[in-house]
Amino acid sequence: MAVPRVSRRGLLGHAGTTGLGALTGAGLVVAVDPGTPVGPPESIPAAPVGTTLAPWGPHQPGVAQAPPAVLEAVALDLRPGVDREALGRLMRLWTGDIEALTAGRPAPGDPAPWLSVPGADLTITVGVGPGALGSDRFGAGPAGFTDVPPMVHDRLEERWGGGDLCVLVAGRDATTVAHAVRRVVADARPFARLRWTQQGAWNGTAPDGSPQTGRNLFGQVDGSANPRPGTELFDRTVWVPEGRWAGGTTLVLRRIRMNLDTWDGLTREEQERSVGRRLADGSPLTGGGESDDVDLAARDEQGRPVVALDAHVRRSHPALHGGRRIFRKGASWTREVPGPRGPRLESGLLFSSYQADLADQFVPLQRSLDELDSLNEWTTAVGSAVFAVLPGFEQGDWLGRSLLA
Ligand code: HEM
Repeated sequence: MAVPRVSRRGLLGHAGTTGLGALTGAGLVVAVDPGTPVGPPESIPAAPVGTTLAPWGPHQPGVAQAPPAVLEAVALDLRPGVDREALGRLMRLWTGDIEALTAGRPAPGDPAPWLSVPGADLTITVGVGPGALGSDRFGAGPAGFTDVPPMVHDRLEERWGGGDLCVLVAGRDATTVAHAVRRVVADARPFARLRWTQQGAWNGTAPDGSPQTGRNLFGQVDGSANPRPGTELFDRTVWVPEGRWAGGTTLVLRRIRMNLDTWDGLTREEQERSVGRRLADGSPLTGGGESDDVDLAARDEQGRPVVALDAHVRRSHPALHGGRRIFRKGASWTREVPGPRGPRLESGLLFSSYQADLADQFVPLQRSLDELDSLNEWTTAVGSAVFAVLPGFEQGDWLGRSLLA
């Protein structure tokens, strides 16, 4: 019997009215003509429309959002002589930019207004590095705000670290994000110069448009055991509870290189053992589903711990740290670097950790992982920066006023 050739256009058009199941159920073999152009837009399921988030409230809204499809983190250094009053002017400018861009309107004086669109999931989050603190700038930082001390496994490069100010631009498409980055950096020019930018992407949306945890470039489901936004645990973990910085948080950004070549050489069992969760669905090796906690006491038939003593989830588990937690987000990156035989790829994770008290929550956890963590064999921090994330602002007010006025 001749196989009926069904073009992608025809298939999609047909499937749209009768359902693909009916076609395949009837035993029809579908061959896609490789020369046929992709079907007309109306036959492709529409992408889910993103959200337009209001920028106002007690907290900057980007913090509690799931990892964005596209993240660009920008660090700037203040120019000499930029004092509290000048910082106030910059924060007012940025407040106008944030209010316009996140609503999908052009920023004031925007030469490319067509690039601002609503529904872009756009958030713009501003943080302040150690160099922008002090009496003539933002004053003292939140309790416990400190640099991350050097770790044995770190191989930090100056070019990926530090910064007096940080702007995290998050959104669902790279064009809108790049345009917003350009506006905030341009408006900051009299006050601050660019220090570094780092980009990353996250697959937090399943093909059917529903939210999913997402995977890093090792292929692991990453973010399962995070405190859930909107819960009391999340609020306690993330927001500074009182004082001048109440409603703010602290951010640690670590640029982590991942050695995919050696990782890919492991067996699946070795890969799963190094973390303590399954690759297929992120469920703990001790059973249950992705959202279940690992059972650190579980033993196998030989009496050995099911979750290895150096497994990443054991070493980072709150049970080992007096219940202390962090809120993590990832953004994966790949770039070309020179190699001995021509260019090669380098990949990794732009790891963000949010916590109310950096010294009390992040530092002991990072130290514990530096002392022992199976993942250290394939991961190396090459950049590190800390920022105090400003509290949110209400409509009619401006970002950072309570700290600068
Ligand atoms: C490239 C580096 C890293 C990779 C690939 C990685 C991967 C993972 C994976 C796959 C999980 C299990 C799923 C989940 O709960 O999210 C996990 C959990 C976790 N990771 Fe990482 N991680 C990395 C770096 C870090 C760093 C630097 C920290 C903190 C300093 C950290 C802290 C945690 C914590 C607290 C958990 C949850 C533990 C639990 O409560 O079960 N991770 N990580």
